[in-house]
Amino acid sequence: MKKSILVLVLAVVVFYACQRQVSKPSTQQAGSVAVSSDMEQAINNPKGATICFESDVLPIFQSSCAKSGCHDAKSHKEGLVLDSYKHIMQGEGIVPGQPFQSEIFLKIYSGEMPPKGNTPLTDAQIKTIGKWIKQGAQNTTNCAGCDTTQFTYSNTISVIFQTNCTGCHSGKNPSGGIDLSTYAGAQVVALNGRLVGAVTHAPGYSPMPQGAPMLSDCNITEIEKWVAAGAPNN
Ligand code: HEC
Repeated sequence: MKKSILVLVLAVVVFYACQRQVSKPSTQQAGSVAVSSDMEQAINNPKGATICFESDVLPIFQSSCAKSGCHDAKSHKEGLVLDSYKHIMQGEGIVPGQPFQSEIFLKIYSGEMPPKGNTPLTDAQIKTIGKWIKQGAQNTTNCAGCDTTQFTYSNTISVIFQTNCTGCHSGKNPSGGIDLSTYAGAQVVALNGRLVGAVTHAPGYSPMPQGAPMLSDCNITEIEKWVAAGAPNN
């Protein structure tokens, strides 16, 4: 009887010791990352509007991280699935309010992720994710401020592409041979009809963005209007 209690106590102690090791926050890593102070400043003192998870942050994860072979539900590299708020917040990769203690963010910030050979995130995208964490990493939705009457390629359309598409459609081997990181590449699919077909999920086209929800109605309208106007480089 006594023996079995001792075993039980030991088991509990060992269990907790392991737990603590596993869940210890990776403050060491935070120190070892070379941080550029301008960027860190901007992230730690987020000015301006609140970052919207649904329209600003999630599409970056979906386009650049939740790809097949990486962090989609099927591949879940390192046990990480980065395709929804619930999955992104699972585990301790994101510490609300503490971007520089958030392991997922540090991987992005240091440039370790996405791995070599993939399109790196832009500084603007990294800042967006960092500020969102700093602001509390909330699941903010339905916050899109989108104006379908005033838009240009450079301020609107290219931003939609960069947020939702260029994780796959850029670099040396862009998906489908379509590069949406340049005007020239975007113009091709705008003028041959495949862009509108794909984003409206029209029959006969591959629905885009691949593996993610449709773009917002407002973004789709902006793309349709831009294409209808002849896809100007404005
Ligand atoms: C996760 C990767 C991924 C993302 C994100 C993605 N695409 Fe694609 N896209 C692909 C792949 C792979 C193909 C080629 C295979 C196919 O047609 O399914 C493709 C094909 C296309 C095509 C050609 C479709 C056709 O039927 O000819 C268009 C246009 C396109 N994408 C536009 C977009 C736009 C616009 C976005 C962002 C709103 C986007 N894609 C986001 C992977 C992606």
